[in-house]
Amino acid sequence: MARRKLIAGNWKMNGLFGEGTTLAKTLADRLASAGPVGFDMLICPPATLVRTVAGLAAGSPLLVGGQDCHAKEKGAHTGDVSAEMLADAGAGHVIVGHSERRQDHRESDAVVRAKAEAAHRAGLVAIVCVGETREERDAGRAEEIVARQVGGSLPEGADGANTVIAYEPVWAIGTGLTATAADVAGMHAHIRRELEGKVASPGEMRILYGGSVKPSNAGELMAIGDVDGALVGGASLVADDFWAIAETCR
Ligand code: 13P
Repeated sequence: MARRKLIAGNWKMNGLFGEGTTLAKTLADRLASAGPVGFDMLICPPATLVRTVAGLAAGSPLLVGGQDCHAKEKGAHTGDVSAEMLADAGAGHVIVGHSERRQDHRESDAVVRAKAEAAHRAGLVAIVCVGETREERDAGRAEEIVARQVGGSLPEGADGANTVIAYEPVWAIGTGLTATAADVAGMHAHIRRELEGKVASPGEMRILYGGSVKPSNAGELMAIGDVDGALVGGASLVADDFWAIAETCR
């Protein structure tokens, strides 16, 4: 089965009501008027905007997701948001295990796996992030680290319909540095091999690249065989840039 490309925007902790709704509306309108395109487009605003943005996206093909969820459905977890709450607000996807959460909140593979399970329980597609640090790459351990993250973070029952993997080398996030096309090709093929025996139909699971994806480098990255789309941070906050990245998949 051919894998349809997914262009996903992770707004991170950016987006007040005015600018967030303007950005979402611009993208929803462009997508609605573009006719059939060869990609899916997803935006993941902060939790405060999920319901509003989902309302704006209704009636257009624009998909909306959360950036994180708690593993539990509800309870005494001050400040956390459950996968069920995101689904209730109109999300269809949720990012789990982003390196900023793995670092800032010390999330282990086991925690990320529990969150991905929660996403599935709530009927959300889990976007499971993996990626090595600069030190790990310099030590020649990038493939080993990513294999461990893939093995430890994917829950039972993960498949191409309910799970997407995002390879985001930590050193490439927000730095303007990107992995070389050869490195990305090698790592995505490595991840695909790691999926063998772990998930049903590994050939159907989308593997996104993330880390300083911009209009200027997206064409080269999206042309790589095992790259099934992008997870975009900074450039997803500018409608023209995010759209230009998506256009490379048209
Ligand atoms: P940048 O595109 O800003 O490097 O961020 C990538 C990322 O972390 C997306 O989740």
